[in-house]
Amino acid sequence: MMKHVLVTGGAGFIGSNFVRYLLRVEPDVQIINLDALTYAGSLENLQGLPHERHVFVHGNITDRTLVTELFEKYQIDTVVHFAAESHVDRSILGPAPFIETNIVGTFTLLDVAREKWAGRQDVRFHHVSTDEVYGTLAPDAPPFSETTPYDPRSPYSASKASSDHLVRAYWHTYGLPVSLTNCSNNYGPYQFPEKLIPLMILNALQGRPLPVYGDGQQIRDWLYVEDHCEGIYRVLRSGQEGETYNIGGGNQPTNLEIVQRICALLDELAPAGAPHDRLITFVQDRPGHDRRYAMDTRKMQTELGWQPHESLESGLRRTVQWYLEHLDWVAAVTRKSDFKDWLTANYDQRERKQQ
Ligand code: NAD
Ligand code: TYD
Repeated sequence: MMKHVLVTGGAGFIGSNFVRYLLRVEPDVQIINLDALTYAGSLENLQGLPHERHVFVHGNITDRTLVTELFEKYQIDTVVHFAAESHVDRSILGPAPFIETNIVGTFTLLDVAREKWAGRQDVRFHHVSTDEVYGTLAPDAPPFSETTPYDPRSPYSASKASSDHLVRAYWHTYGLPVSLTNCSNNYGPYQFPEKLIPLMILNALQGRPLPVYGDGQQIRDWLYVEDHCEGIYRVLRSGQEGETYNIGGGNQPTNLEIVQRICALLDELAPAGAPHDRLITFVQDRPGHDRRYAMDTRKMQTELGWQPHESLESGLRRTVQWYLEHLDWVAAVTRKSDFKDWLTANYDQRERKQQ
């Protein structure tokens, strides 16, 4: 059964893409979108959605009374849990909200679901998590699989690991019907401009330095956001209860290569008279910076027939084009947040490094 879906964090980057995706593929589903509208969440991400099928609720996942009311009022049968503090650099400068939202918030949702769904099997609590819980890989190590032991190394990944453990505990202890997805780095429309790809696009457009941490040789596995949304949907529809599925793009560029590709795309799509890669600036590394992530996605492919549609090349092109066409969105979401303060706090103290 999937009729009344509580999406948490649905005004953020992946959550808002998922809301659009689900409304498109499931014409009869009603979505209740619970979001606290932190700096990372915005109603700008939800413009034009049909009111009768998408109800937005401004509130916090740690508010047990509110979550209970929503379960009762809307007869929630499915939870898709995105709400989180999601930026590693912010977790280094201020970990407290990560503990509160990612751990206490997930606990609150699980515990209300346990109470309201007691004995029911026609329900699902889906938890959206990250590859960062697995830690960091040596250059020649095999990719993370669903059975790789957890080894989180930042306050962000440690708080997500804690939430994953709680979700599994509710499955084993109380039989709550859960599923989990651990996904690699997403990119695409509506990503808040603090993350690597949109930050680089927007800094480059403004002629500002492109701050590459350390030597820029760190490796992430990049996935276009709609491919992630489809993966979550397949797990909701056909995934096994109590199971975890790894989702990733199979792309293994270094951070420096990503920035260079963005520069090349901007040279083509928004020429500035001089190559954008002249702006690349190596800066002091992130403390505890994970060196490499890679995902083994064979379980998603063989059990659920999922694979990404977008290549890194096509996805990056779509993303750069989207930001070029949505500079008004960028202005709106950065105006309402503390974005300037964030740039000062995270970047002004970083020393520049010669490479
Ligand atoms: P985001 O930071 O863009 O959005 C998070 C949303 O959650 C925002 O709308 C925010 O307002 C909301 N929120 C935060 N605290 C809340 C609270 N206490 N109560 C209610 N709402 C709250 O994050 P994202 O990049 O869209 O990530 C969504 C989920 O996917 C997170 O759980 C993240 O850990 C996971 N994930 C992200 C990536 C990635 O590359 N971005 C990769 C894998 C997994
Ligand atoms: P980010 O988008 O913050 O995602 P995550 O830390 O969850 O992987 O960063 C992606 C990579 O880019 C990561 O290795 C850190 C690096 N990075 C920079 O080099 N410079 C930056 O300004 C940012 C934000 C990230």
